[in-house]
Amino acid sequence: MTEVTGPDTRSPAETPATGWASRVAGCGSALPERKMTNHELATMVDTSDEWITQRTGIKERRIAADGENTSDLATRAALSALKQAGIRGSDVDLIVLATCTPDRTVPASAVRVQAAIGMTAGIAFDVQAACSGFVFALSVADNMIRLGQARTALVIGAETISRIIDWTDRNSCVLFGDGAGAVVLRAERQTGGLRKGVLSTHLRSDGRHQDKIRTDGGPSSTRTAGYMHLEGREVFLHAVVNLAEASQEALAANGLTQADLDWVVPHQANQRIVQTLGEKLHLPKEKVILTVDHHGNTSAASIPLALAEAVEDGRIKENDLVLTPTMGAGFTWGAALIRW
Ligand code: ACO
Repeated sequence: MTEVTGPDTRSPAETPATGWASRVAGCGSALPERKMTNHELATMVDTSDEWITQRTGIKERRIAADGENTSDLATRAALSALKQAGIRGSDVDLIVLATCTPDRTVPASAVRVQAAIGMTAGIAFDVQAACSGFVFALSVADNMIRLGQARTALVIGAETISRIIDWTDRNSCVLFGDGAGAVVLRAERQTGGLRKGVLSTHLRSDGRHQDKIRTDGGPSSTRTAGYMHLEGREVFLHAVVNLAEASQEALAANGLTQADLDWVVPHQANQRIVQTLGEKLHLPKEKVILTVDHHGNTSAASIPLALAEAVEDGRIKENDLVLTPTMGAGFTWGAALIRW
């Protein structure tokens, strides 16, 4: 029997020597047609474009149409990611879909995507880590690929958060938007040289803060989905600390520093949170991808939406080092470091 002598202090570079890595082969996104501006919100609750812009940086967000579900947005994002990767749905053997707004409580929205993209083998399931969901899903998929349990994965963040918003609560309704983003990961054997793909993922949660962002319902407690409530100032303070901590941990684990980063693509909760993170990491603001102005906070979809936008417009390129710090309800938080 192997003797356990203490905590595992290996860096990800030293961990199980399968030699397999998860390379990003493509990404895509989907947004609902309908834009909702701050001016429109100001006709619904006691707020103003000036307040929302100054406190959050948000100018507009997208809202899903009636009958347009999370899996519909997820499927569109997935198909666009598959197209960029040059593969078909039948080539995929794993879907991990991050959402806290599934179409139905049962089954997982991932299996609806699986059927819609023509994938008849492999496995599909949802993960729920609120706004951190995409990085958690990426971590699950990356680990399954490294262990040989999957070869080609779709990692999706998709939300119709507008469905769990109380549109009379100005504290929350101005912050969120709907959308989906997807990334294709493919197993690649790496035999030396510059490590590419998902270098490492770092996940945390602390349930003592479970009530700071919460819905006031759920299938087991109220038999409803409930509406979102949050303690914005408290969330803000924890977010800037946790995002910076996860970022430093990811860099240190790979023997890298802020200076090595090409891009930071953080969860898009609030422009001020993103800017504070950039300052804490001593990064020029040009290296921090910001989409919250036109997407709002799309929860688990925010990072893959931002990744897809930055790839599409040519900012993120092959070999770029990309950091994705995130933070959400739970609290959950973490980061992934990816060599594109
Ligand atoms: N319009 C006008 N006034 C408003 C609005 C609004 N939409 N919402 C709140 N106010 C008022 C408040 O009532 C308060 O008034 P008072 O001083 O008379 O009590 C005042 O504005 C200031 O409120 P604060 O909460 O102190 O404002 P703050 O500068 O902290 O900004 C915000 C609030 C935008 C919510 C910010 O705290 C934030 O972004 N927090 C984190 C985001 C978040 O919680 N996201 C949830 C998802 S989790 C995640 O993504 C990490």
